[in-house]
Amino acid sequence: MVKLSIQAGAWEAPGPLYLKLKDEILRQIRLGGLRPGDRLPPTRQLAGDLGLNRGTVSAAYEELTSEGVLTSHVGRGTFVAPDLSLAGVDASVSGNGYRWADHFAGAEPPPPPWFPTAPAGADVIAFHRGVPDQALFPADAFRAALDATLREEGEHILGYAPAEGHPPFVDFLLDYLRVHRSLAVTRDEVLVVNGSQQAMDLLARTFLRPGDTVAVEDPSYFGALELFRSAGARMVAIPMDESGMRLEEAESVLARERPKFVYIMPTYQNPTGRCLSTDRREGFIRLAARYEVPVIEDDFDAELAYDREPPPPLKSLPGSQGVIYIGTPSKTLFPGLRIGWIVADPAVTARVGRIKQIADLSGSQLLQAAFTRFAKTGAYDEHKDRVRKTYRRRRDAVLAALQDAMPRGVSWTRPGGGMSLLVTLPDGMDSEAILAETAAEGVLFSPGSWFHVNDGARSLRLCFGSVTEADADRGARILARTVARHLDAGRKNRPPSRVSRLPAV
Ligand SMILES: Cc1ncc(COP(=O)(O)O)c(C=O)c1O
Repeated sequence: MVKLSIQAGAWEAPGPLYLKLKDEILRQIRLGGLRPGDRLPPTRQLAGDLGLNRGTVSAAYEELTSEGVLTSHVGRGTFVAPDLSLAGVDASVSGNGYRWADHFAGAEPPPPPWFPTAPAGADVIAFHRGVPDQALFPADAFRAALDATLREEGEHILGYAPAEGHPPFVDFLLDYLRVHRSLAVTRDEVLVVNGSQQAMDLLARTFLRPGDTVAVEDPSYFGALELFRSAGARMVAIPMDESGMRLEEAESVLARERPKFVYIMPTYQNPTGRCLSTDRREGFIRLAARYEVPVIEDDFDAELAYDREPPPPLKSLPGSQGVIYIGTPSKTLFPGLRIGWIVADPAVTARVGRIKQIADLSGSQLLQAAFTRFAKTGAYDEHKDRVRKTYRRRRDAVLAALQDAMPRGVSWTRPGGGMSLLVTLPDGMDSEAILAETAAEGVLFSPGSWFHVNDGARSLRLCFGSVTEADADRGARILARTVARHLDAGRKNRPPSRVSRLPAV
């Protein structure tokens, strides 16, 4: 059943409440928050949640049912009509002035995911921020690199870059990939882009048509799921275990679904932090080659390794011609650079490069040049050493607090690197309900439903990159206390089990 939240101010316009609720439900259908086939909350529950009279909710549901927007089944509940035409819904929403909706092409993008905020003035423990800690950004050293770049390169550095990237940056990148990522590649195999998210967008435009299928690890990176879905693709899930994507399941998905590509984060996966084992890397490359399916390898945080060196990227292994590798300095340095790179067969980089050029002409020469200069002074390597130590301590603090305080029945991943881990709650628990309570104490995290293809109600992601050790400890304990409270309440409300007196066998 979907949650229905009401936009602030929705009640303030004049007119009967039930019509405003009706308009609000239509608005959410139009925005994609409610989809055909979704079940609405029962009238009593919604009335309670919104502080309305139950008759008001019934009147709104009845009117929408008589218009064919909702369907109602005795005993099963009220649903958005499964065969609803969204064009009809658009026309029935009252607009203010100019009707932009009549001019926009295609379906409305889904709204950003729902998120509670901490109370004003609360000390926020930001486990929800999947980003490096801003307090660690080397602003002074980068400013010096920028100043020197402008001073020494002159005006030409302020012009457009060649489509494939600023040439001295590409030289630096080839060297960097060889030394740090075991990738010995040539210039025509590299394309510089504006962040790895843009790489994925360009690859979606290159490979996907509406209705295509993309295979992903389950759970996967929310931004990739959103992007591929917005290109009209359907996601199919490949389950994981502690060693990463499971190859038997991957094989049956490839055989059954024939996806256009597989999107995978082999090293310190987002959200689990898991790392695909060496054996599986080799097995997966063989599998992808056998099914002739391209693989998009998102290598976004492999250099944030805390315990040991992770296995080398898929792209460095024999037989990896079908792998399209994406890299970024967003997690190891800072995301505001908006620099990323694709490493792939020249046929791919040429085609994607042309699509990029048509889309945005060029990246920033200035930033590519400044990044090159910054890295060549040794400042990038020093920065990575520093943040690795800090993030390792933060990871250890969260893991220790979870170990100490989480009730039995709760499990979590133990990442060897990266910035996130996934907690799985016992059956029947809902991480969004837990979040609503921890948020009131300032502890924010991302609910698992964002990352899972099918159902992620029981899981939640904790990012420890932007959380000090003391906060990591305090936040994990507040989370554990909240989970324990829910478990206790669940036990008290559960009817006595009939099977509990059967002899054990
Ligand atoms: C797994 C993963 N890939 C890609 C990105 C996007 O990074 P960029 O800043 O390079 O676009 C993110 C950002 O959070 C991410 O978590």
